[in-house]
Amino acid sequence: MVAGEVGRPGIRGPGKYALLGFPVRHSVSPQMQGAAFRWAGIPASYELIEVPPDQLGAVVARLRDQAYAGWNVTVPHKENVLNCVDEVTPEARAAGSVNTVVNRDGILRGHSTDGYGLEAAVRESFGLDVPGRRFLFVGAGGAARATAVWFAQLGAAEVRIVNRTLGKAERIAERIRAVAPGCTVRCVAGAEPAGVVSALSGVDVVIQATSLGLHADDPLPLDVALLLPGMAVMDMIYRRTPFLLEAARRGCRIADGRGMLLHQGARSFELWTGCSAPVAEMRAGLEAAVAARA
Ligand code: ATR
Repeated sequence: MVAGEVGRPGIRGPGKYALLGFPVRHSVSPQMQGAAFRWAGIPASYELIEVPPDQLGAVVARLRDQAYAGWNVTVPHKENVLNCVDEVTPEARAAGSVNTVVNRDGILRGHSTDGYGLEAAVRESFGLDVPGRRFLFVGAGGAARATAVWFAQLGAAEVRIVNRTLGKAERIAERIRAVAPGCTVRCVAGAEPAGVVSALSGVDVVIQATSLGLHADDPLPLDVALLLPGMAVMDMIYRRTPFLLEAARRGCRIADGRGMLLHQGARSFELWTGCSAPVAEMRAGLEAAVAARA
């Protein structure tokens, strides 16, 4: 390539990008990343690729062969993709999750930007930095694990996890104790109201990380009557869920998952291009795509 072919000299990153998931049709990542590439003057495409679980390895091999510059990975592949890349950052290894792959000359490196995305969203929405703070995660699936482990490593004073299945919360707790021994961690079964009340006591932010709220007939992930006015409550789902609306009715400060989506994507863009992410442009792309769906 001739120097200067790319809009801004010294910026890497032209090429093909994608999001791998199942399903991914609903994703607004193409609009968000498209806005960033356009702003940076980087010629790039960003496709949605539906990848059934048994085809992940084959699709990753194809993207490597076809010299895709990088891709995002979403549900249900964030864990399994660790086995399909050549290198994994220590943070992603600890989180047990990869959502961003960078392809440098055929060497695939897996990163996790979800924890960073949530960290930035919590700062933006509630003015709070993670170190020294107490967080309650509701849920113990892949999303909760990746972010709770990240928060513990960042220096959160305490991570509490409420989940329907206590054993899954305890597995995250074991990982946190292994990688961040300075962080206090406590697990509570969702069906024990007294335990949930105690887990809510003194927390700085409640983070809803279950899949509940995606479907109209889902139950609430937590008894909202236990939330106190003034509490900061964030939901990882990208819109105002019934849980968030109930929390707002109880006087909580609320934020949905768009902030996390935006900032995890901004970090992916930076890893691919080495260029500071144009967060305002990416937010506008994301909001326009979300509005077009409504
Ligand atoms: P993700 O990767 O998006 O986090 P996941 O790994 O399937 O998805 O995790 C889903 C989370 O939602 C889990 O915490 C799950 O609770 P269990 O660990 O007990 O399965 C939670 N969840 C899903 N449906 C639920 C329900 N009906 N009631 C309570 N929790 C539920």
